Amino acid sequence: MCALFNKHDLYEACVQSPEHLAPLLRAIHGGEPATLGEDFSGTAALSYEWVKRDGARAISADLDAAALAHRGDHERISKVVSDVTTVPDPCDVLFVGNFSIGYWHTRDELIAYLRHARSRMNPGGVFVCDTYGGESAFLTGDVHRPTPLPNGYICRYTWEQRHADPLTGMVTDVIHFRIERAGVIEHEFMDAFVYEWRLWSVPELRDALIEAGFAETQVFAKLADAWDDQGNAYVEPVADAEDELDDSFIVMVAGRV
Ligand SMILES: C[S@@+](CC[C@H](N)C(=O)[O-])C[C@H]1O[C@@H](n2cnc3c(N)ncnc32)[C@H](O)[C@@H]1O
Repeated sequence: MCALFNKHDLYEACVQSPEHLAPLLRAIHGGEPATLGEDFSGTAALSYEWVKRDGARAISADLDAAALAHRGDHERISKVVSDVTTVPDPCDVLFVGNFSIGYWHTRDELIAYLRHARSRMNPGGVFVCDTYGGESAFLTGDVHRPTPLPNGYICRYTWEQRHADPLTGMVTDVIHFRIERAGVIEHEFMDAFVYEWRLWSVPELRDALIEAGFAETQVFAKLADAWDDQGNAYVEPVADAEDELDDSFIVMVAGRV
């Protein structure tokens, strides 16, 4: 245990960027979405960003009661400690982030979940999940990134793909944090989060969305120039993968009702 740092705070600081994600999801929706469903929400960091806008509400669902409780209560966020397949609340945007769609390991599980997601969508609503693909998708290895923290600390964040099996699609992805100050590692959170996921390809997800009852699917790249100075986002679906996607990529896959 480390009294100074908590793995949920480090995850939010190093992995997430809700101030970018919330406007991106609003832009993908394309209208004035009021209600966000954040499935597999962890600490619900996106929901807290979403409800900063007047009239906006969020429903955040996760199995992990400690993660959901981490940020305390908010009058416009409903937190549900539950399997995401039991949450009935309707929403305009339903988001599944940080590759959590991979918790469904079989196609039957994936379709059942997406049918449930479809049943929650308000008219004009959009379901969005992210996935990664391309030439490095089934390679093992590490990606490192330093993130500055208050009081002169730096968090050295590592994303490790520990196992990857292109024959089953199963991957083991692990997050580690090392806290450094003045060149000395003071705290380590090794294997802070360990994920056993099925890495669904983009066409597998698009097919599954249609089978689950969505009318149309689109794919969006997270482009660095998607945001203006006011933080609004502007997106167009990927039209030509060869031109618009890198050899290895992270994309958002959307299903419209
Ligand atoms: C990778 S974290 C995602 C955190 C956050 N959504 C993000 O984008 O960074 C995955 C979360 O999914 C939760 N989870 C896994 N299976 C679940 C299920 N069937 N129903 C609800 N939550 C689930 C875990 O407890 C964990 O907090």
